[in-house]
Amino acid sequence: MLPLLGLLGLAAPATASYAFYVGKNLTESGHVLLGGTGEEVSSHWLQLFPAQDHPSNATITVGVTQDASYPGKLITIPQVNHTWRYMSMEYSDFEGFPAPLTNGGLNEKGVAVRDVWASNRDELTEMTPNPQTGVQYSDLARIVMERASTAREGVEIIGDLIKKHGFATYGGNSHLIADKVEGWVVWEFAGGEKLWAAEQLGPDVVRVSYPGYIEEFPVDFAGSRDYMGSENLVDFAVAQGWWDPDGDEPFNVFKAYGVQCDSYHARTGGFKYMSQAALENATLAMVPVTEKDLMKRVRDPRICDDQPGYGQVIRVYEPEDPDLYLIWNAATGSVAAPFVPWYLGVEDVPPEFGQHRYLTTVFAGRVFKRVLYYMCSAPKRFLPLVTDMYTSFEEESAAAATTWVETAAKMLLEAGDRDAARKMLTFFSHTRAYKSLEIGKTLTDALDGYIKLSGVWQTPKGDLINEMGSNERMNCLTGINPDKPADQQ
Ligand SMILES: *[C@@H]1O[C@H](CO)[C@@H](O)[C@H](O)[C@H]1NC(C)=O
Ligand SMILES: *[C@@H]1O[C@H](CO)[C@@H](O)[C@H](O)[C@H]1NC(C)=O
Ligand SMILES: *[C@@H]1O[C@H](CO)[C@@H](O)[C@H](O)[C@H]1NC(C)=O
Ligand SMILES: *[C@@H]1O[C@H](CO)[C@@H](O)[C@H](O)[C@H]1NC(C)=O
Repeated sequence: MLPLLGLLGLAAPATASYAFYVGKNLTESGHVLLGGTGEEVSSHWLQLFPAQDHPSNATITVGVTQDASYPGKLITIPQVNHTWRYMSMEYSDFEGFPAPLTNGGLNEKGVAVRDVWASNRDELTEMTPNPQTGVQYSDLARIVMERASTAREGVEIIGDLIKKHGFATYGGNSHLIADKVEGWVVWEFAGGEKLWAAEQLGPDVVRVSYPGYIEEFPVDFAGSRDYMGSENLVDFAVAQGWWDPDGDEPFNVFKAYGVQCDSYHARTGGFKYMSQAALENATLAMVPVTEKDLMKRVRDPRICDDQPGYGQVIRVYEPEDPDLYLIWNAATGSVAAPFVPWYLGVEDVPPEFGQHRYLTTVFAGRVFKRVLYYMCSAPKRFLPLVTDMYTSFEEESAAAATTWVETAAKMLLEAGDRDAARKMLTFFSHTRAYKSLEIGKTLTDALDGYIKLSGVWQTPKGDLINEMGSNERMNCLTGINPDKPADQQ
């Protein structure tokens, strides 16, 4: 139960996560930007998946087991003969779904995926068969990275898979998929009816999913370049009495299939701390948006609480070589962890940032969680300081990336030495990752000393590790507006 929603007396959504899409006309570099996080209370680690060939009879296992919040049965579906290289933040636990899970990441074709919750009306969740079968949200995010060469193709793949195999749900979900040209929001519905809808996002659009939403939708979308959906999308809503084709209201996906509650609105709020509209406005105020600006939005302390398992920002463009795709990834919620530059060409991820054992490896996610909890002792004092350090670290990384790392890698690639190029990119990304870890350790030591000596140490009360008098254990930093100077908070 999310405390804020609890106070408002609302039902907690099944989960959260957020994604930002900025169309290429609105960015400084002229490239699409995608950012966000996954808010699973789980262990998260960064993982590289090399491209792979598969035998013609290969299969993959998809769906959920009897342990899921909506129980199901796993099924096997055909694998394709080749899957792309991709990098993803993997995690171990969500609603009883089988690990490892992913919200997405970026593949070698320049397709970036984020998965974000998007709850459905009760009638739909109640219709969900028990046991249910089909591809689930993480399967879809992974399969899009494995198979799609464009964002549009990613949407088509999701539609085909749901049509053939069904969708296994935890209550409704969405994906935000982007490539160098455009973005797409795809909303997959509970109920076992294979319902889904997708809306294209063009170059002049900022879209925030928090949760994912789609509003007005053409009933004759079959011929449209800008919308896709299951064939039954409109008819099913009509048959259920959820939309009246003879009425005055145009067909609206949120109104037909979204949560039916007076205090929830498609894009103007009710679900969590800020509405999508407010976050979209905050992003539009930054036009032309840079990667650095989007990092500021993703780590915005008004939404980046204790839940995010990481932070990610990707400039979705076409570099000269896919090894030069750059994924900015923070090891836990980016309000408390710096973004580290990971090239898709790196050979591996060090254990401190990869799948780890708590008993044997220092884990970056945990080091930076400690920074978060220390900041919670005196947020207004420590947050600006920590944010300054992280943004300086990121500027240093970005300067190195553009001044010599990419130039040197390109020269090696042009000389035909991919192996040396990958070793150089690996050396750079690992060096920055370890440097960030060093900063994290120094910070926790310094904050620990300062907090105890200056008398602001707070002993945890009961089981509320983060309770700072507001009764909101998950969001000790929220309320601070990063767009306002510190003395006006
Ligand atoms: C957006 O960019 C495209 C070219 O990439 C251009 O044709 C179009 O006019 C732009 N739209 C606006 C509103 O600037
Ligand atoms: C797939 O085919 C290969 C030979 O082509 C065979 O050795 C293998 O057992 C088959 N695997 C499955 C799961 O059918
Ligand atoms: C792999 O599949 C693609 C299309 O699905 C096909 O064009 C290609 O020939 C296949 N390659 C092999 C090695 O089977
Ligand atoms: C967002 O900006 C629009 C246009 O300026 C304004 O009408 C709307 O009220 C704003 N919404 C929020 C939530 O700030």
